Amino acid sequence: MTALARRRLKPNIPWVIKYRPKRVDEVFNQEDAKKKLIPWIKQWAEGRPPSKRAALLYGPPGVGKTSLVEAIANEYKFELLELNASDYRSYEAIKRTVGVAANKMPLYGNGIIILLDEIDGIAPREDSGGLRALLEIIPETRNPIIMTANDPWKQQLRPLHQVAELIPFKALTINQVVAILQRICDLEGLECEREALRYIAEVERGDVRAAINDLQAVAEGYGRVTLTLVKMLVRGREKKNEIFVTLNQIFYADKAWKARNAINNSQEDYETVIAWLNDNIPRKYEDPEDAFRAYDALARATLMLSRAKFSGNWSLLPYVFILAGPGVALARKNKPISKARYAYPERIKLLARLKEVRETRERLAEKIARRTLASKRLVKAEILPYLFIIFREADDPVPAARLALGYNLDRKEVEFLAGSRARVILEAVERIKKARSREQKTPSRAEAKQAESAGSAPRGEEEGEKKARRKGKKPPSTTLDSFF
Ligand SMILES: Nc1ncnc2c1ncn2[C@@H]1O[C@H](COP(=O)(O)OP(=O)(O)O)[C@@H](O)[C@H]1O
Ligand SMILES: [Mg+2]
Repeated sequence: MTALARRRLKPNIPWVIKYRPKRVDEVFNQEDAKKKLIPWIKQWAEGRPPSKRAALLYGPPGVGKTSLVEAIANEYKFELLELNASDYRSYEAIKRTVGVAANKMPLYGNGIIILLDEIDGIAPREDSGGLRALLEIIPETRNPIIMTANDPWKQQLRPLHQVAELIPFKALTINQVVAILQRICDLEGLECEREALRYIAEVERGDVRAAINDLQAVAEGYGRVTLTLVKMLVRGREKKNEIFVTLNQIFYADKAWKARNAINNSQEDYETVIAWLNDNIPRKYEDPEDAFRAYDALARATLMLSRAKFSGNWSLLPYVFILAGPGVALARKNKPISKARYAYPERIKLLARLKEVRETRERLAEKIARRTLASKRLVKAEILPYLFIIFREADDPVPAARLALGYNLDRKEVEFLAGSRARVILEAVERIKKARSREQKTPSRAEAKQAESAGSAPRGEEEGEKKARRKGKKPPSTTLDSFF
């Protein structure tokens, strides 16, 4: 790295953020999309909402969809509410976030652009309730709703075509991507071979985000961007290696650089690669001294990585590659490599499980807190322990099943509360629901009574439903069907 380049490179901020378009004319080569989206947003700004109150921007990743929305909000004086997949998993979640924002009067400017980014990242079954909520909100919204997706023809997104303006985004051509990369090289004062930029653009096939990330990785590792370096270091997304290939390339490397590249070319993030190495070193290295040296290198790699993350000083990243790659590969000196199969890391398994349990517990506490108007903390401390007893210890599953219905619990939440009793309770829920739907068809007193004794919802819930029916609204129980 030349001294000049070292001084100029500030590695701590990702260039895709640093060079994010702030104005509409900084989003390149999406003129057709702008021609559709800008008149649409101007209508909103002038207080005449267009007939389709949502827009669905679609196209491959990294071509400027999110950037254009942000630039438009900025230039046309809209507040921007950005939501992504984790915010809109269910009917309730959407009503709570999108629904509330859709009705809001803005504090300043022309309104709020509600951006639902990457809606095709949502699982179809679990989120059908979410889609239903959107279809209810869009025709009534007072603020523009913009969604982005890679593939709008997916089954679960099709209903949106009726209510949203479809706006396509195209992948950029190689020359266009090269121009964007060249501009960044100039602004960074970076030595970049034209052919190297072309190579990156070709490999990433019009994905500007990926191309900029490649450029930064090479520049920060080496201070200059040449064709030789780029050929060695950059691989397109589709060509990234699975974890087993990465492990093989490290454990069986005969040259240091091969082990180093293995990490770069992995589709997994560095932590995951390190976790896999961690659990597989003792399987592959039978000699204790070999294993010791490998762990020594891996420990240093972990340390570097956490320092890089903590301080934002990403110039430490090359050391992580070298320690976890060649550091582990060259540690084996005494014994040939064992033929043992790779094992799935315990830590990853455990974390995945814990995370799921934690998330379920949080969701459950939130649901109950909303129903009971208690705080989430209180629910966790005072209510959940009783629910555990009712769900796990009671001989009769009906009270638990009624609670499940009353609180609108999904399968995961019931499993969390009931453990091995979950199946019995879920069956009871089904029975109650059947009885209830019979009751709804012929709501005579006698039958209602009978259904109740076979075990139906708590009374409070029933009253609410009758009221809702009288008002001509859908009873809340219809939301249950999507859960069970
Ligand atoms: N058309 C474009 N013009 C300029 N920069 C772009 C363009 N498309 C993408 N980028 C760059 O790539 C990054 C990611 O773009 P983004 O808008 O998030 O892509 P998308 O939402 O289509 O996946 C942006 O920060 C920006 O730096
Ligand atoms: Mg995006």
